[in-house]
Amino acid sequence: MTEVTLFFQEFTRARRETGAIAPSSPSLSSALTRFVIPSPDLPRRVLEVGPGTGAVTRRVRAAMGPRDTLDLIEANPRFTDLLRRRYADDPRVRLFTGFVQEHELGTYDTIVCGLPFANFDAPTVTDLFDRLLGALRPGGTLSFFAYAGLSALRRALAGPGTRGRTLRTQSVIARTLERHRFRTEPVFRNLPPALVHHLVPVGPPADDRPGYPG
Ligand SMILES: C[S@@+](CC[C@H](N)C(=O)[O-])C[C@H]1O[C@@H](n2cnc3c(N)ncnc32)[C@H](O)[C@@H]1O
Repeated sequence: MTEVTLFFQEFTRARRETGAIAPSSPSLSSALTRFVIPSPDLPRRVLEVGPGTGAVTRRVRAAMGPRDTLDLIEANPRFTDLLRRRYADDPRVRLFTGFVQEHELGTYDTIVCGLPFANFDAPTVTDLFDRLLGALRPGGTLSFFAYAGLSALRRALAGPGTRGRTLRTQSVIARTLERHRFRTEPVFRNLPPALVHHLVPVGPPADDRPGYPG
């Protein structure tokens, strides 16, 4: 089975988590990995969340030096089976199956995230951003994408039962971008076109905030 077929099959089976009908294009993958920059002196730690069939992972690995490490966290075991076979020989890569929320995250220089945030409810999105931004060392980056124009379309199509949830999720994403974004780049060569957002942590990591359960 090809990667595209497997991805589409998983989209039909688990639409909300898969969040896309096809893997990211080379242009989108390259924008998402813009800040995976090898450093000759220091080994760098990279995390990819939601690698799917590994379209973006290929770019991450190509940008890694011999002492860099890559952790992959993927919820769908059909995708992790594929990735495990592909990267079995690369000691730099560690693969974890399950939701990122179930994992104790280390500290990373760069996080590349494929999660379909727009499909989740507002508390889940808040929790995910807190975890991911909280796992970055100062100056580290988190890159993720959203499909261009999809927010407006979702608002227009939301019925009375889902409108409130859609607005709350979009508001969490907008507030996170306002606080942490340093760059957004459009990617037209993807179906559908996408926006890639690059974020940095601001202020203390999430687990140092008063009242945040440790
Ligand atoms: C939009 S796809 C992106 C796949 C790949 N990064 C790409 O760009 O082609 C989202 C991926 O995130 C995974 N996923 C969704 N929720 C997750 C979670 N909470 N933790 C880890 N992976 C998750 C899905 O199984 C899916 O593989």
